[in-house]
Amino acid sequence: MNCKKGCFITFEGPEGAGKSTQVKLLRQALEKRGIQTIVTREPGGTPLAEQLRDIVKYHEGDEPMAAETELLLFAASRAQHVRNLIKPAVAEGKVVICDRFYDSTTAYQGYARSLELDFVQRLNMFAIAGCKPDLTILLDLPPEAGFSRTAARAETQGLNDRLENEALDFHLAVRSAFLTIAEQEPERVKVVSALDAPEVIHCTIMELIENVV
Ligand SMILES: Nc1ncnc2c1ncn2[C@@H]1O[C@H](COP(=O)(O)OP(=O)(O)OP(=O)(O)O)[C@@H](O)[C@H]1O
Ligand SMILES: [Mg+2]
Repeated sequence: MNCKKGCFITFEGPEGAGKSTQVKLLRQALEKRGIQTIVTREPGGTPLAEQLRDIVKYHEGDEPMAAETELLLFAASRAQHVRNLIKPAVAEGKVVICDRFYDSTTAYQGYARSLELDFVQRLNMFAIAGCKPDLTILLDLPPEAGFSRTAARAETQGLNDRLENEALDFHLAVRSAFLTIAEQEPERVKVVSALDAPEVIHCTIMELIENVV
């Protein structure tokens, strides 16, 4: 592995799939090799994008958030993130690892919330302005397994967010949407089973990374 130019790697998958766990392991592995690595997440990643994250994930009160508003808030957060963090870091030759990106918007707001898919995809492209991931790791997991992993966290760290609180059908639709996205873009999106042990998954990811970093 010999990183001469920047690159952009995203992690996708349902709640509890192990995205944050794998992002951390990958960052450690790359840094050990002396590769400058930036870890970030969506929604969020810059101060303004993090403010939008709070609204879109934790909004509560009497006025429900429309699905369209949710979609636009994710896109607004992404537009800031790409322009003020991801693009500049990749241009400086860093490896940027992002926990969720626009495939989550396609899966959750496009497929699972049944917003117009063509528009969602055009909005995604508008927000990213050409900043497509070089590689996307899709950690695939049945929702039930994800729930049991995150239940323990909800007990220790407080309430689930708005999307985590959706019903099982919604999460089944999200899983199948992610798999559809991977089928449509097999070069970019690599499916990795999230059922294996974290270290096994990490080794698989390192093999996939060799081709881009
Ligand atoms: N491969 C694995 N096998 C079993 N448990 C795992 C595995 N990977 C992570 N976990 C555990 O499952 C829980 C969720 O993992 P993690 O936070 O990495 O998932 P996530 O995809 O980032 O979830 P979220 O979408 O909610 O942020 C954690 O308690 C973590 O320790
Ligand atoms: Mg996480």
